[in-house]
Amino acid sequence: MSSNGIDRRNFLRTSSAAALALAAAGMPGIGRAQQDGKPLKVGFIGVGGRGTVLLRLAMQLDWVQVTAICDISERSLGRAQRLVERRGKPLPVGYGKGPEDYRRMLEECDLDAVIIGTPWKWHVPMCLAAMEAGVYTGVEVPASQDIDGCWQLVETCEKTGTPLMMLENYAYFRSAMMVMNLLDLGLFGDMLHSAVGYQKDERGVRIGPNGELSFYGEIRTRLDGNLYPTHAIGPAAWAMGINRGDSFDYLVSVSSRSIQTERFIKEKFGADHPAAKIDFVTGDINTSIIRTAEGRTITVYYDTQSARPWDPIQRFQSDKGLFMGSMNKIYVEGISKTNRAYEDAGPYYEKYDHPLWKKWGNLDVAGLGRGVCDFLAVQQFLEAARRKAPTPLNVYDAVDWSAITPLSIESVANGSAPAKFPDFSKGKWKEKQDRIYYGV
Ligand SMILES: NC(=O)c1ccc[n+]([C@@H]2O[C@H](COP(=O)([O-])OP(=O)(O)OC[C@H]3O[C@@H](n4cnc5c(N)ncnc54)[C@H](O)[C@@H]3O)[C@@H](O)[C@H]2O)c1
Repeated sequence: MSSNGIDRRNFLRTSSAAALALAAAGMPGIGRAQQDGKPLKVGFIGVGGRGTVLLRLAMQLDWVQVTAICDISERSLGRAQRLVERRGKPLPVGYGKGPEDYRRMLEECDLDAVIIGTPWKWHVPMCLAAMEAGVYTGVEVPASQDIDGCWQLVETCEKTGTPLMMLENYAYFRSAMMVMNLLDLGLFGDMLHSAVGYQKDERGVRIGPNGELSFYGEIRTRLDGNLYPTHAIGPAAWAMGINRGDSFDYLVSVSSRSIQTERFIKEKFGADHPAAKIDFVTGDINTSIIRTAEGRTITVYYDTQSARPWDPIQRFQSDKGLFMGSMNKIYVEGISKTNRAYEDAGPYYEKYDHPLWKKWGNLDVAGLGRGVCDFLAVQQFLEAARRKAPTPLNVYDAVDWSAITPLSIESVANGSAPAKFPDFSKGKWKEKQDRIYYGV
């Protein structure tokens, strides 16, 4: 039995009806019920594209019982309920009576944890209600779109003592975690700089089949800055010890011109289509540079309207060397065989893979988001809830990473003038703390 009570081999030996039902559904579960016999009661709010992925990932953990699901779409709600039932679990109670019905779910169901996968504008009110109800709160990215929402999250989290974790899957990338392991082992020195990006051709995501704007598209008509920063910043901030001895101080941001969304729509729907008349104001490529209180720097790219491959960059540079994610190359002084020459990072994974990846790396979750890293974000959150322990990523991480959007908008609007990060933790960031990983 592993220290966290999860034992895959033990589970596979189990011949319970539930296990057989799971196997019949082609999705073996992992682990077993909590040692006190009680499952972790989890609710979901928003089970569209992403929420369904999170639901399926959570169901990989046998000690999770999905007891309630809320969605305003009858179709999404029914599909999610059936997904749970097909795994041989009791049908979760459904809540779908309008956009505020999540409040009834939080009141009526004695939940241990809730996972929120709704559109952005709902994240803050839903998180506040969940924390007020004393339910461990896991929220999709970004946690908030504005500074006021960030403060509300911090204040409610501090007042209620209910942990909030933004489920930032990129923080659990194998590459980033390998770097964190090197840092934890003291082999990679002290972080100095990162270059990271959310760089992905998402032109089609902005607009539906009939030319209607999705919620991702609508904000591009109003705001110019980095509108989706948390995937990029998450791993860099975690590696740099932000909120664990360092803090974001300020950023400067610059946007390129905005041409590619309009061009894409014209090419797809024709110049006479009403959508082709929409003005998009978000620059095609936004570049922000953050300086931390302890003098580290991070360049953050936001580039989603270009013809381009996916590339999160992931350059992690310390006073001992650097990992170059795009190239999958590494140089570490004292470890690399050749002085000042990059090496293929492949062999480093064999030796320095993060313990979480050693444990879960072979889990068959391909096709569920980005796979194992998405699973780890969910599993680490739920593991914290199960232990009634702090979440590995905390409310200050959630708001600092999310605040890049309003601060980059402010900086772009002011000719790239520095925009200062609020001190959300009120100085608590000065305390050096280890990163938390459960069950390693
Ligand atoms: N971490 C990642 O890699 C990743 C990937 C995709 C999306 N996301 C995030 O996930 C969230 C959801 O995105 P999506 O693409 O799944 O959107 P989606 O539109 O597919 O799903 C949203 C769901 O929320 C439901 N909903 C809306 N308002 C509601 C309300 N008031 N109460 C209950 N349900 C409500 C909708 O009916 C829908 O089923 C966003 O915050 C997005 O940024 C994260």
